[in-house]
Amino acid sequence: MGYTREELPVRTKSTSLFNHLDTMPGDPIFGLMSLYAKDPAEEKASLTIGVYRDEQGKPWVLPTVRKVEKMIAEDVATNHEYLPMEGLHAFVESARDLLFGNPSPALTSRIGSLQTISGTGAVHLGARFLNDSLQPKRIWVSDPTWGNHHAIFDIAAPAVEQKMYPYYDAATCSLNFSGMMETLEEQAQPGDVILLHACAHNPTGIDPTKEQWKLIADLCERKHLFPFFDSAYQGFASGDVDEDAWAVRHFVDRGTLELVVAQSFSKNFGLYGQRVGAFHIVTADEQARDKALSHLIYLQRAEISNPPVYGARIVAFILQNAELKAEWEQDLLIMSGRIKTMRAALFGALQELKTPGNWQHIVDQNGMFSYTGLSEKQVLALRKEHIYLLTSGRASISGLNRDNVKMVAKAIDKVVRASGDAPAVAA
Ligand SMILES: Cc1ncc(COP(=O)(O)O)c(C=O)c1O
Repeated sequence: MGYTREELPVRTKSTSLFNHLDTMPGDPIFGLMSLYAKDPAEEKASLTIGVYRDEQGKPWVLPTVRKVEKMIAEDVATNHEYLPMEGLHAFVESARDLLFGNPSPALTSRIGSLQTISGTGAVHLGARFLNDSLQPKRIWVSDPTWGNHHAIFDIAAPAVEQKMYPYYDAATCSLNFSGMMETLEEQAQPGDVILLHACAHNPTGIDPTKEQWKLIADLCERKHLFPFFDSAYQGFASGDVDEDAWAVRHFVDRGTLELVVAQSFSKNFGLYGQRVGAFHIVTADEQARDKALSHLIYLQRAEISNPPVYGARIVAFILQNAELKAEWEQDLLIMSGRIKTMRAALFGALQELKTPGNWQHIVDQNGMFSYTGLSEKQVLALRKEHIYLLTSGRASISGLNRDNVKMVAKAIDKVVRASGDAPAVAA
């Protein structure tokens, strides 16, 4: 600009280089959590964030995790050295075996895996890797999907157009399978990526049936779509790790599709804050696997150098010991069982109150969330009754317990009657 050093303008607050920035919107879930915390009502319920809560509404450290934490703490050989860039080998292998169901040596040679910063980091790494390696024109995501999918693809793959395929049928609170298939059949192009939730779809809680999954796999084959699975709830949804991995394994077993999977251990091990996850790529042959993995490790090095060790150590310890694994599977049954019980309790209470509408979808849906079918207006009215859920009508079922479920049902009954509008009447 032609200033000498002495002439440079004195910097004041008003000369910030960042004043041109717009303020980004805050995350609606975290915003609601703080509204809930400030609500002075004695009887209130938070059905917002997707974390497991016990019958007392408290965070639950899985007993198996507690036990292993003690064992690790007492092991004098434990240290805090850096992990390799691809992560803790024992963890990466156990994560792969859990997801793909102890794959054969032939299949294992086609799977490349590395540890990530939980599920979010795995989706991010996958988005960036596919952006660079396949350069797809479009990625298809379900309408609706986990909100962060949009943001992650925005920043990691900005040139890839995000398209939405129909998923949720608001009239019946169920899967719009024909809408999904017709849209993809007509509009998806060879080379497009399709993002699929492996189980317990967030936010709707609605999953395709096995027959429908087969048709989705047929479509991917026929139209040359590249499947990107997001597996954030394996074992947490049904209580059975194999059942919840069925769709991923079906796609792999066909032997005709290359695909990637982002895997999270936040929910099924209750290790939310430890950021434990993995990314897997299944290729047609070992050579392609090795090349892809080298690129993933290169990206990892630049982005995080190497992943955190503590949570991965816990997961590996449990999955590599048959007795501990069996105990963890009991923990999964406790979490998934309590959620199913709460779905039934809410449904039962609404039926008892003869609340207008059809509420069957609450028990039919799967996993952490229910897309209740409540409208934005009804959700806002519920806040006045001290019940907090997302304006989309998504409720985190684990926020319910025996003490608050009747109060929640009564409040829903009140706002539904007052609005004169009831969900799923077309079902
Ligand atoms: C569909 C889906 N994918 C990924 C994640 C990422 O979870 P985390 O980064 O905590 O493992 C979540 C968490 O809510 C999710 O619901």
